[in-house]
Parts: sequence; C-alpha cells; structure tokens
Amino acid sequence: MKSLSGQEIRRMYKQFFADRGHLVFPSASLVPHNDPSLLWINAGMAPLKPYFDGREVPERPRIVSSQKCIRTNDIENVGHTARHQTFFEMLGNFSFGDYFKAEVIPWAWEFLTHDLELDSERLSATVHYTDDEAWHIWHDVVGVPEDRIVRGDEDNFWDIGEGPCGPCSEIFYDRGAEFGCGTEDCKPGCDCDRFLEVWNLVFTQYNHEKDGSRTELPKKNIDTGMGLERVASILQDVPNNFETDLFRPMIDHTAQIAHRPYGGDASADVHFKIIADHIRTVAFAIGDGVLPSNEGRGYIIRRLLRRAIRSGRKLGIERPFLNELATTVADVMGADYPEVREKLDFIRRVVRTEEERFHETLAEGEALLGAALDAVLASGGSLLSGADAFKLYDTFGFPIDLTEEIAAERGVAIDREAFANELEAQRTRARSARHVAEGMNVSRGQLESFTDASRFVGYDTLRTESRILALFRDGEQVAQLNAGESGQAILDVTPFYAESGGQVGDSGQLTEPSTTVEVTDVKKAPHGQNSHHVTVTEGTLVQGDTVMAAVNESARRDTIKNHTATHLLHKALREVLGTHVAQAGSLVEPERLRFDFSHFGPLSEVELREVERRVNDAVWRDYPVVTEEMDIDDAKAKGAMALFGEKYGQTVRVVQAGDYSVELCGGCHVPRTGVIGLFQIVSETGIGSGVRRIEAVTGRFAYEHVLERENMMKSAASLLKTASAEELVGRIERLLDDMRQLERDLESARGRLLHAKAVELLEQVETTVGIPMLAAIIEDADADALRQLTDELRVKLQSYVLVLGSATNDKVTLVAAVSSDLQKQGLHAGQLVKEVAAVTGGGGGGRPDLAQAGGRDAAKLPEAIAKVADIVVGKWLRPQESSSGAEK
Ligand code: ALA
Repeated sequence: MKSLSGQEIRRMYKQFFADRGHLVFPSASLVPHNDPSLLWINAGMAPLKPYFDGREVPERPRIVSSQKCIRTNDIENVGHTARHQTFFEMLGNFSFGDYFKAEVIPWAWEFLTHDLELDSERLSATVHYTDDEAWHIWHDVVGVPEDRIVRGDEDNFWDIGEGPCGPCSEIFYDRGAEFGCGTEDCKPGCDCDRFLEVWNLVFTQYNHEKDGSRTELPKKNIDTGMGLERVASILQDVPNNFETDLFRPMIDHTAQIAHRPYGGDASADVHFKIIADHIRTVAFAIGDGVLPSNEGRGYIIRRLLRRAIRSGRKLGIERPFLNELATTVADVMGADYPEVREKLDFIRRVVRTEEERFHETLAEGEALLGAALDAVLASGGSLLSGADAFKLYDTFGFPIDLTEEIAAERGVAIDREAFANELEAQRTRARSARHVAEGMNVSRGQLESFTDASRFVGYDTLRTESRILALFRDGEQVAQLNAGESGQAILDVTPFYAESGGQVGDSGQLTEPSTTVEVTDVKKAPHGQNSHHVTVTEGTLVQGDTVMAAVNESARRDTIKNHTATHLLHKALREVLGTHVAQAGSLVEPERLRFDFSHFGPLSEVELREVERRVNDAVWRDYPVVTEEMDIDDAKAKGAMALFGEKYGQTVRVVQAGDYSVELCGGCHVPRTGVIGLFQIVSETGIGSGVRRIEAVTGRFAYEHVLERENMMKSAASLLKTASAEELVGRIERLLDDMRQLERDLESARGRLLHAKAVELLEQVETTVGIPMLAAIIEDADADALRQLTDELRVKLQSYVLVLGSATNDKVTLVAAVSSDLQKQGLHAGQLVKEVAAVTGGGGGGRPDLAQAGGRDAAKLPEAIAKVADIVVGKWLRPQESSSGAEK
C-alpha cells in the first residue's frame, strides 16, 4: 500500500478516468442550481441530474469529478465517530448511456488494487440480491472469491428520493480485526470501524418519480461515489478521517490557539474534531455564497459555526478564532478548489462577524437563561420548560446541551420532550417552506432523441426564412399541427432566442401565405436546439414547410436593454459593495430586470444611489457592446465574470461593454450602452440567506417610472395646495411644525383637564370604616389618563384606597392604588383590582401599591365601581375587626 496525500488521491482518481475517456468536470457549487428538491449538493451525481434524466445532453457521455458535498443529517455524531462529517469530497465517475457494469467494476478494482495498491485480499463487495450480472463480473471477470461477494438485500439500492436511482455494489476494505467490534456478525456492512465502505458503484437505470414510483430511464447509466477522506485514512494508516492530512492541519492550528495538545484526552479530542469539520463546511459554503441566517442553508451554517464556537470554549478559547482557521482550510484545499483561496478575505470577514455576534448573544442568552432558572427555582420547581429551552435555542443559538449543562449546575432539568416537540414543529414549518418544486424528470417524449441541428441567427437578425424540421405534440412527433393546436416546432434556422442565462425566450410569429402561427415561448431542447412553443391560429403547419420566422421586435428591443443593463449592474454592485457579490439568479424580461446576488444585508440609500449612478454613467458613456467567441482560458485571462452554477464548454461567448464589464454570456445585447437610455432601480429586498434582490427598469419603462413618480408628486402638491413640486418640501416642513405645535397644545390642555378632574375627585374621597376611599368612573379616559390621574391623587393624599375605571371603545380599564400605611394593614392594590375587574368579566393584577386590570363588559363597570367599598370592607377589614374584637 502506498502512502498518499489527499491531494494525490484526488488527482490520481481524476487522471485514471481521464485516461479512460472521461471529461474532468470541476466541482459544482455546494448550492444546488435549479434543483429545489435539494438543500445542498450531497453527492457527486447531484449536479449532473439533468444528464441522467435526459433534460440536457453532456458534452461527453463520460464524466469524472471530485465534488464538494454537504450532508447534515447527523450533525450530532460529528466528532464522536471515526467518520461522520458534514463536508466531504466525493470522487465519482459517471456514464450517461455509455459504459455500464462490465466496464465500471473492473476499473474500480484496477484503481484500488493497482493504482492505490490496496491489498486485494482485504477487499470485498456487495451486490443487490437480484443482481446476478454484477455478481458474475466480480466473480468471473475480476476474480473475487465467492465468500467475499456479499449478496445484499433491498438496501443495496441507491435511492434518495426524486431522481435517478438503481441497484448498487459497494466495495469494502477490511482494516483488520483490531478495528472491529468482535461480534460474530461482523462482516462488510457492519457499523463498526473494521469494514470501511470505500466506493459505491450505482447502476443507475431507474428514475424515482414524484409519486414514488420507479420508471426505467431512457438509457442505463453509471454513478459512483468514493469518499475521499475515508480512502485517505486507509492510505495514511490513521484510525479516523480527522487524522488525515485533509483535517489534521485545522486540528493542529486549533491546538496552537488553545495552547493544549490534541490526542490523549478523548473528550477534548471530540471538540477538536467538531471544529475541524465545521470550519471546512462553513468556509466552503460561504465561499459558495451562503451567509449565516435563520433559515435554510444559512441556518445550517449559523448552527455549525455556533457549535464550533462552543467547542472552542470547551477547549478554553474565549475569543473569535474560527476566522483564522479558515486560512488553514484555504491552505489545505485551495490548490484543487481555488474558490476558498480567492474568497478567503470574504469568508474570514463573515465568520468573524458571526463569531463576534454569537459571543454577544451568548452573554445575553446566558442572562435570559439565568432569569428563567431563577423563576423556576422561585416557584419551587426543578424543570425548565421546553418553550424556554427552545427560545434559547432558536433566538440565541444555544445548543440544547449547553442549556442543559448550565441548568444542571443549578439543579434544574430540561423538559426534553416538550423541547423536542417544539423543535419538530419548527422542522415541519421549515420543511413545508422548502417547497419541493416541479419534478426534475419532465416527459419529453421523442423530443429527447431528436438530434438534428438547428441554427440560431437571432443575434443579428429578427426575421428569416426557415424550414420546419420537426413538430411535436404531447411529446410525440407529428407531421402537422392544425388550426387551434399547440405543440413544439424545431426550425433549421431561427431568430428566436431560447430562454437561458436569465433572458426569457422570444415571442413572435411563423407565417406562410395561408398559415399563421403564434410563437409564445422558446426553450432549449435536450440537444440544445431551440424548441418553439407554438399555437396555430390559422391554416396548418406542416413539417418541411418553409415559413417566415419573425421575432416580436419591440419586446426583444426592450429585453436586450435589460440584459446589457444587468451586466452593468453586476459590475457596479461589485465596485460599490465588493467582489463578494456573486450573481445568484437573474431574470431578464422586456418590462424589467431582476438580479439576485449574495450580500450580507440591505443596501443603504447611499449605496443604492451610487450603484444606480454608476450604471447610468456607463449607459451615457455609450460604450460599444462587443461579443466574441474564445477559449475559456482566454476569457478568464480577460477577467470575464463567469456565473454561479453555470456549466461552460471550452469555447465561450464573451460580452464586453467598453472596458467596463466583461462577462461570459450567451444572451442578446444592445449594440451600444447608450441605447439603454436610462436605468432606474425600483426595489431592493432580501430574499433570505444573505441573498439580495434588485429590480430595475430601463428605456421607456424607466421613463414611465419617472413619470409615475412625478405624477405622484404633482398630486401631493395639489393635495397640499402648493402650486409647484418645488414648494412641496417647505410646505411639508411647515405642516409638520404646525402638527407638533398642536400636539403640544393638546398635551397641555389635557394636563389642565386632568388636574381639574383630580381636584374634583379629591372632594369625593369618603372615609368608610376609617379608610379614605375613592372609587369613580372617569369619562373619556384611556389607560394613560387613568394612571396620570391616579398619580396626581396619590401625591395629594396621605392614606387612601383608589379605584378608577373607564370604558373607551368598549375597553374597560381599571387602575387601583393603596397607600403604604393601608398596605401594612393587609390591603393590596393588585388583589383589589383583580376582584373589581372580575365583576366586568376581566382580570389583571400587579403590585400592592399600584395595579391595573382590564375588563370585558363595559355595561358592568358601574356595578364594579359600586362594589369597591364592599370589597374593601368585606374582604379585608371584617376578619381583622372580628379578630381584634375577639381580643377585647
Ligand atoms: N451517488 C452514490 C452515492 O452517493 C454514488 O453513494
């Protein structure tokens, strides 16, 4: 067995399959592109789904990749086992209708035993119990003895829900009995550390449909996955993944910061491992544009960061440190994943901000927890409610075990069951929020196998003669479409742009002397042809016909303004906000443009105006817009911005607006930026997880936007009776001044009224059984007024029981006050007001000196007030009188 670094294994794998005709694919972003069924890319095949189900045809039918993956179903296990990780690299080779079992199995064997030099005696394989074909290849072609080919059960089937699936064959490496659990059943598949699954070969031949059924895929495919870290642990002869060179530098860096060594203290080692795992995940996710937040992907990142911070505290690290570890992640991984190196400054800034923030909420949360525990103990309890624990978890990011530990120090347990219920309820909310959109497997019928080329000429012309190559209706190829029928048409030459890169498909007409066809939308067919959605309004459209194909000019003219403006906006955002701004989505329509991008928070007014100003400046400079096809490496050398999640071939189209913006783009653009005329930002909003959205308009729509604003201003001016918009601001300022003066006048008039009322009420104080008492209804007084009146009376009286009530808008409010000498005699304002409020069907309470309550039934207020004296006398004085009487 060789000793190989992680990087060497990664590169050898790619080379091995490149030598066997595979195209080496760069890792896709961790954020799924156009796949709402996934939160994260979680396998090498995930970004390739469109190739498996035929929506797109790959450049080559063989692909190899090392794919960044995140799986978060077992976060709690990380650090406690040898292999649980949240971020990992999956090495995989894929065949799309090309090779199958007979090639992939011997290749896997060759790579493991020849290239990696693993001891063949230690290798075994499983096959699905029905898969005789795979069994025979392992046995007869590769020569694995019968006792090391295990027939698996139903579970030997790779299926993670909607999408491609199929039986699989897993390859295991026996690390030796010393790693085993020692039970009799210990064999490949056992959960202990002896038999390591190193490679999973999936024979993808079905599609898991939305309704759960499995249908045969049009072609048989291969999807394989090898976990890089576990293979590295074997080849580096270390007991677990964390001690490979893919993790160890982060552990050592942590040890340096914590001033304590790794290894030796098992409970501390868990924390080293958690930190090393989580920082990799966090750094890569942020590098791919995910920002910490309270939902979706952002929430996972926040949670991982907080777990890592807490693990740091367990190791005695009290300051922000994870941002420093991100540098080590970039050092370890940057050679093969340049994005972590390029985005390092940004990653560090985000991590550091989050660390500082959590250190703050940590203190706040601890205070809240302290108060909650005080309350539990004060009430004689010993259980913290699930709701409290959940609030700490949810709002302050307190992991439940942290809450539990702190509570335990004070002898309080946590209602775990109630907490779990709250958590489950939240998960359900989250799940339903992450709507699972349309299935990936669209039925395309014969369109999928249709390969004749069609040519797009719509960059230069909007009208051309064209021949109908093929027509489809309901997925079937047809010879003609009759009036009233809709379907798809493929043309030999077309001026119609098919939706892509955010730009919507064109609309327009196909015409013949006696036939008119509306083109309502254009999308890409699996082999890249433009597929026109058509409806025949007159006559018949026949395959082979020659038609005049004409794009709706005005819509296209508007669209291209928005498309070029989108490029200018992208550039301006990067200039104003920083180069962390990455496009996360874009929509270019005739009427407006919508641009989504990663950024921490809302843009300030100043930033927004500056972005808008820069775009307009580029418009008015009237830059020529030039498009050019070139090699992708030349394009990159030119500094062309490539888009997030897009796959690019070797030859790319570069769109350049003067020397301002250079972008890879297949879309349609204005010839000069001046054509855009005017650019106006209409809105800027957050759409979750650190993604912002700008909507903007150009050209005539921008002019209309300005007009609309101007009309609004004119209406405002006329409402305020000013002659012109220029006077508007001065007029509003004067109005506001007047209003403030009126408010002050009103306030002092109220004060005078209250004072007069208080004087009047003082007269009504009556002494009953030696207690000066006042119970009264005050007309037109809200709770504030009642309290002010009460305060004024309290200052003027020495010894008193006061109850004031009011009913405004059907709301009954009661305020009670008791002087301190009478409190000593057992009178309590809170209890008194509660009883009085009860008469009106309400409740409330409060302190012994001053309390407030609300009632329900305004009609009962007089009765309640009338009862005050009785309540006071009856409830508190009688028992005292009688007891003092008994003494006599
Ligand atoms: N897609 C398969 C897996 O992830 C190879 O195991």
